[in-house]
Amino acid sequence: MIILGIESSCDETGVGIVELSDDGTTRILADSVASSMQEHARFGGVVPEIASRAHLEAMPQVMDAALKEAGIDKPDAVAATVGPGLAGALLVGASAAKAYAAAWDVPFYGVNHLGGHVAVANLEGEELPHSIALLVSGGHTQLLEVQAVGKPMRELGSTLDDAAGEAYDKVSRLLGLGYPGGPVIDKLAARGEPTIDFPRGMSRAEDLRGPHRHDFSFSGLKTSVARYVERAEKEGRVISVEDVCASFQEAVADVLTAKALRACEDTGAKTLLLGGGVAANARLRELAAQRCEAAGVELRVPRFKLCTDNGVMIAALAAQLIHEGAQPSDLSVGTDTQLEVETPLVTSVA
Ligand code: KG4
Ligand code: ZN
Repeated sequence: MIILGIESSCDETGVGIVELSDDGTTRILADSVASSMQEHARFGGVVPEIASRAHLEAMPQVMDAALKEAGIDKPDAVAATVGPGLAGALLVGASAAKAYAAAWDVPFYGVNHLGGHVAVANLEGEELPHSIALLVSGGHTQLLEVQAVGKPMRELGSTLDDAAGEAYDKVSRLLGLGYPGGPVIDKLAARGEPTIDFPRGMSRAEDLRGPHRHDFSFSGLKTSVARYVERAEKEGRVISVEDVCASFQEAVADVLTAKALRACEDTGAKTLLLGGGVAANARLRELAAQRCEAAGVELRVPRFKLCTDNGVMIAALAAQLIHEGAQPSDLSVGTDTQLEVETPLVTSVA
């Protein structure tokens, strides 16, 4: 059975195609992605209206490229992200998916974007066991407890303010390094030393005892970097941008990995899955590997193209659900910008 997945929750327009075998294994047939990232560059972050329009313009080409890559005229099912994500962006992808499903006369599956990030784990290597997923991108920062791909997940924590990638983008902007911030800060950090002790949000003993034990906060860190730069300017001191980047990055990687491993310990999970664009970060990967090894936890990081938003992850999640006998969604189901992680698939209007 051939399943096509459409992703459009943020700034990537993705169409992915997978083949589901009788034994439940999936194979990637096509992975076509267009990004409107450069169109947002001068604003320093994703502009929802620009993203929606870009999805509309890119969809036909991305679809044609995927069908051509897979060598098929039509799939046996169409899936799309119906949430969470940006309202207009979700609407474009979900509407396109329903229209394609209706025109091809095949079933439609409206699935959860975050479930998709987890589903890619099953495309490479062993089936994902009980695990903790740390999803970090420009749009989300989530610690999820996963029983298995396609099963409802439990959110242990998320960010109270900025997403991890958003913190990178904002700090990059204030250092005059452009957008997106992650790759350039990562590169500069490699040439610096983490000499500045920036704050670790939501990590004090009282935070860890309270309801925000597994939550994140990056806005204090961002402000702290801004104050550091302002103070140096006022005092006429030259700062090392490399050291500022390395110190900021250390604070982010430290908090993300400490909280992820604490979640593993609290739940007894022996596997940690990384996903989202920030999973590309060199220091995050290094520190996660070190701390996982010390804790006896297996670290799974899918290859980078599958970590960032794409259509394959949506097709992969739908494939798992179909394999387990899930019913298709009504074409009347809507999109939900705040779709809960407990809902992998939306089958009918609530
Ligand atoms: O998953 P993604 O491509 O798109 C969404 O946000 O949905 O993630 C993009 C985010 C941006 O905020 C970018 O700055 C960040 O991922 N990013 C990184 C790195 N590469 C991309 N952050 C830290 N280190 C990196 N190497
Ligand atoms: Zn995502």
